[in-house]
Amino acid sequence: MNILFAASEAMPFTKTGGLADVAGALPRELARLGHRVCLVLPRYALIDGEQHGLKERLHLKVPTFLGPLDATVEETRLPDPTLRFETWAHVLTIGYEPYFGRSSLYMEGGKDYADNLDRFAFFSRAVLELAAILDSTLGWAPQILHANDWQTALSVVYGTHLYASSPVIRKLRTLFTVHNVAYQGSFPQTAFPKTGLGPELAGPDALGRDGSICLLKGGLRFADFLSTVSPTYSLEIQTPEYGYGLDAVVRQRRDHLVGILNGVDTVAWDPATDPHLPAHFTSTDLSGKTICKRAVQAAFGLPRRDVPLLAVVSRLDRQKGIDVVIAALPELVAEDVQVVLVGTGDPQLESALRSSAQRYPANVGVRIDFDEGLAHRVIAGADLFLMPSRYEPCGLTDLYSMRYGTVPVVRRTGGLADTVLPYSPARPDHADATGFQFDQASPEALRDSVRLALRVQANADRWRRLMQAGMERDMSWAVSAVQYVELYRKVLEAPGPRGELDRSG
Ligand code: ADP
Ligand code: GLC
Repeated sequence: MNILFAASEAMPFTKTGGLADVAGALPRELARLGHRVCLVLPRYALIDGEQHGLKERLHLKVPTFLGPLDATVEETRLPDPTLRFETWAHVLTIGYEPYFGRSSLYMEGGKDYADNLDRFAFFSRAVLELAAILDSTLGWAPQILHANDWQTALSVVYGTHLYASSPVIRKLRTLFTVHNVAYQGSFPQTAFPKTGLGPELAGPDALGRDGSICLLKGGLRFADFLSTVSPTYSLEIQTPEYGYGLDAVVRQRRDHLVGILNGVDTVAWDPATDPHLPAHFTSTDLSGKTICKRAVQAAFGLPRRDVPLLAVVSRLDRQKGIDVVIAALPELVAEDVQVVLVGTGDPQLESALRSSAQRYPANVGVRIDFDEGLAHRVIAGADLFLMPSRYEPCGLTDLYSMRYGTVPVVRRTGGLADTVLPYSPARPDHADATGFQFDQASPEALRDSVRLALRVQANADRWRRLMQAGMERDMSWAVSAVQYVELYRKVLEAPGPRGELDRSG
């Protein structure tokens, strides 16, 4: 199959969160399965072109509300660091300096860029312009456009509404993946003309919503198929509690919605080889993990004591229940544990975390930073990983933690409910358990779950079994990529927006 994968960030080029991990790993895995994949990204100035071997390939005239804008398309390949595979995915970047020549991806100083609609309408339109000419540039025409999140949602709508005269695009089928339904790409209704779509699409049956326009809704309404990143989240977003106002739209399309769990990029996240770590370890030789723990204690200025080390690596956002962790800290610290937290985001949470570190200098370490290497080291060195998320579409750090023998303590929601197999005191010898789950997003529930974990940790054999069960479970992309391939097959059979006739184009 020929797949065009559109995303606004991808590892190893740029990253603000889990979408980048997915967009960097899934295309590569699909290529390994023998499919032709092209990942399309904005060419942010932040991307180091030299490091990633980006070479100018062509120029595109992208139609926009300002008239045609000239985009530079650069090309590279998605690296396979193991070099064990001869297949690779293409990467094409869309460059337009006034939109992407900035110091950040979506926001600065806590505020979204004022022209985000202009920027991502442009990018989404460029994806379609590129799709139409891929045959002459790469020698293959895409059959599937796989778009992700609000930033590329318009590419779905453009594909179904603006390109009836393009034989390639008329045959193109679309999958839209929602990684987080709370991030919707909402803009004032008055800005609708910037999308370049006809006014009939501004209404509540299309992109319109309560006096604004919602790009995510466009993807949800018009893609041939929808997916999200865990089976539980695919059900949750059909409810008012988790749907963020889009639950009715999702429910309408539930027959075309699938939940597929994210996987672990087992090259980037392997405790036996991870270049970010001071020592390596495996499920059968865990000695290196102690060295990693000591290194984390040293990095955070905590005493080198043999007490449980609890960790959080996260965007600092209400979604992640960081306030719950902060509220639970006094009682956690009373258990004689150390807690390290790494994250950036909400300024109030940042300053509350800094205050906690000052209040408990011997027990709490905080780093307000986005640092890939530090994230790896903390996940490797900790004993427990805390995720009291209010909602969690999938969650990757819990998967990474399990792979690194760091036992997750998570709220039972979304992907956390699907990926962490909970320990139960009623079945202390349950051999498959990989972590701890609780239901309420409250400090008390988190504290109780941590207390249970600490009791289990006191039993060295039982704890080792928990660690090893997580480390040895196959959570790689190989499993999920096969499910995407099955879904793509269904997508290809979709009749398309203008009916079956168009498929023969
Ligand atoms: P989300 O996408 O909602 O932020 P995920 O768990 O899916 O949550 O993915 C988060 C990704 O971002 C992980 O790769 C995690 O290691 C990384 N990450 C989060 N915060 C930081 C940080 N402060 N520094 C480095 N990496 C971080
Ligand atoms: C979103 C979600 C997270 C998920 C990630 C990648 O950012 O918040 O749960 O793992 O996307 O799909």
